[in-house]
Formats: sequence, C-alpha cells, structure tokens
Amino acid sequence: MPATCTPDRYAVIGHPIGHSKSPQIHAAFAQASGQIMAYSAIEAPLHGFAATVLAFRAQGGRGVNVTLPFKLQALALASDALQSARAAGAANALKFEGDRIWAQNFDGVGLVNDIQCNLGFSLAGKRVLLLGAGGAARGAILPLAAQRPALLAVANRSADKAHRLKRDFAAHVELQTGGFDELAGEVFDLVLNATSTGLSHAALPLPAHLFAADALAYELVYGQGLTPFLRQARAAGVHQLADGVGMLVEQAAEAFAWWRGVRPQTRPVIARLSVPLV
Ligand code: ATR
Repeated sequence: MPATCTPDRYAVIGHPIGHSKSPQIHAAFAQASGQIMAYSAIEAPLHGFAATVLAFRAQGGRGVNVTLPFKLQALALASDALQSARAAGAANALKFEGDRIWAQNFDGVGLVNDIQCNLGFSLAGKRVLLLGAGGAARGAILPLAAQRPALLAVANRSADKAHRLKRDFAAHVELQTGGFDELAGEVFDLVLNATSTGLSHAALPLPAHLFAADALAYELVYGQGLTPFLRQARAAGVHQLADGVGMLVEQAAEAFAWWRGVRPQTRPVIARLSVPLV
C-alpha cells in the first residue's frame, strides 16, 4: 500500500487523559475538512512525558496536543518555541519536522477568538479582570492585551503571584495586579475565572458590584455546568455567562490549522460539546 494511504497521526498527551475531548474534536474537524488523519489519546506516565512524545514521533506521529500536567515540559522539550509558548511559559501543541520540535500555545488565542467571534464581545476599550495567576492566566495575558482593553487587571488569592505577572509582562503590557480584597469598588465589563476553582468547586471572595451592566462572566473550565464563579456572577445579575468549551474548540482549530493548513469550522463542534449553564 502506498504511504499516502496511511493517515497522518496526531495525539493528545496528558495524565490522566480519559476525559479529553480532543480526539472527538479533531475527528470532527478532519471529517468536515476531508483531511486523512488519525488522532488518539495517550496517557504518558508522570515521569515519562518526553519518552512518550519521542516514541510517538518515532512511530510516524506528526504532532501532538499537550494537556495537564505536561505543558511546561512540552515547552522544555521543544527545539523551537514560538512567541505564544514562550510568553505563556508553556506549550499546548507540538509539531514535528525532521529533527525539530516546534512549540505553540493556542489557549490564549482560542480564548480571544471565542470571546470576540463566537460570543460577539469586543475587547477593545473594555475593563477586563482576570482571576488567577497560574498557567491558565499567564497564557491569556498577551492575547487579551493585544485586543487593546482599557484596563487589564489580574487578581489572585496570593497577591504576590499576581505582582510577579506584572513584572514578567512589564515589557509588553501594563497590568493592574493585586489580591481579591483590592477589587472593592472596581467595576469590570469582562471577568474571566482562570483559577482552578471551576474544578474544585470552591467559591471566590469577590466583592459586590464587581460586574458592569451587560458584563460577560467567562469561566475557563468547561463541561462543569454552573461553577461557583458563574453562580456568583448570575447572582450579581450577570446575563452573559460562558464556560471554556468555545476556548477548547477554538484552540483545537488553531492547532489543526497549524498542522494541516486548513481552518475548520468550529461552531457545529462547540454546539455539540456544550453543556447547558443552568
Ligand atoms: P493552572 O495552570 O490551571 O492555572 P495553577 O498554575 O496551579 O493552575 O494555578 C491555579 C490558580 O488557581 C492560582 O491562581 C491559584 O491561586 P494561588 O496562586 O493563590 O494558589 C488559584 N486557586 C486555586 N484554588 C483557589 C481557591 N480556592 N481560591 C482562590 N484561588 C484559587
């Protein structure tokens, strides 16, 4: 059989990986765009990420998505890291070309595409608050700042970690940073929850009147229904609530386009994966 009959191979690598929606998303993209490719889920041992990636490449793999807890290691493994991955300090997509391993991080652009294109919320001139200062928040900062909000603020449980982000990004963007208690009296058009409380189901100590009229509350976690953050937003009168399903599908579309040179439609896949926020 000629080599062209063999599907190009991709995978998502994480630990655990059973929950990943990526195989479903990429299968839908491949089918809709007529690409001959196979996409699987691989669980790497906690101390075996690099070996797993290199074995997949040796078997003919063309690229991988990387999820928790390996995004930092994915960047370290790359021979060539693109700006998105360097700025985030982590990679969520790798592409293999000969001996080279290219690294990208599409989480931030996926988030911005979802907010602006799918939810119709323009970031320019808006007051934007990012809750959290971990990896998820770090990856969102430059893509959000590129859309020229009037203010980009970062609040975190430990204010020190937020201040560290301010220093790390000082060359690119002026962030307002602090602890949650410093939010009293502030009002935002968009509040994004990039803490891990969407998964742990912990409530955040948010002040009253944090949300402007017509504000959007965006939870980066997906598939959890109404998280404590979204409940808080709804109780504060926010009508526009979103979780991270659109971000997930949009970052997948960016990776697909990077690997295959074809940008798939995202809306039908988002509709299929969405969990009602009730
Ligand atoms: P990720 O890569 O998903 O961002 P992370 O780097 O471990 O994960 O960061 C988790 C984020 O959630 C941090 O901002 C953390 O706050 P601290 O830096 O103060 O630890 C935040 N977080 C986790 N649990 C929280 C809670 N119960 N209340 C408020 N913030 C919380």
